Amino acid sequence: MPKGRIFEEAVSLLRQAGYDLPPEFDDSRKLILDVPKANMRFILSKPMDVPTYVEHGVADVGVAGKDVMIEEKRDVYEVLDLKISACYMAVAALPSYDSKADIAPKIATKYPKLAAGYFREQGEQVEIIKLNGSIELAPLVGLADRIVDIVSTGRTLKENGLVETETMMPITSRFIVNPVSYRMKAGQIDDMIERLARVVEGGSGQ
Ligand code: PRP
Repeated sequence: MPKGRIFEEAVSLLRQAGYDLPPEFDDSRKLILDVPKANMRFILSKPMDVPTYVEHGVADVGVAGKDVMIEEKRDVYEVLDLKISACYMAVAALPSYDSKADIAPKIATKYPKLAAGYFREQGEQVEIIKLNGSIELAPLVGLADRIVDIVSTGRTLKENGLVETETMMPITSRFIVNPVSYRMKAGQIDDMIERLARVVEGGSGQ
């Protein structure tokens, strides 16, 4: 499970799907949470690391953003769009920025591979600067000309005086599965996918 803002939505989805997750899930700093009744163990990692845990098989299944899936390109199955944590990836800049006048723009982002792939497809030559957060700061202090980042409410862009110049792709969280686990625990995993899918499609998971 991804720690942070996606966690709450994912827990709510699992509860709707009939998983009886204890109140501990609502307020804990623990990185491993056991639910013996459901025979489940939850591992909480940084969102960007979820596919790594699943690829290595220390987690059978996981919840990962489409942004993370594109950036990390891990060997896992993406089996269900959970349709939670909806946001989108965009390019943004200061309103005064003139992209036509810039021959080798610097792009700040937490997603270097995703951004490089996008600009390659657009046929635009750019220099990528990898940052770990607060990406909106980069154009304000002259570190980069543009940014590639997640937009959710648009508040961070607005409050920092940036404008969106290109909308890249919609992002939601996905349910992912380790390929070996899927073979070994097909019954359990399929049951989980079905229960989640029913909630996603608007019914009850049970
Ligand atoms: C994300 C993203 C934007 C912000 C967008 O950052 O990178 O900065 O949220 O949300 P908004 O459109 O609702 O303002 P996050 O808060 O996850 O932290 P980070 O900057 O450290 O990555």
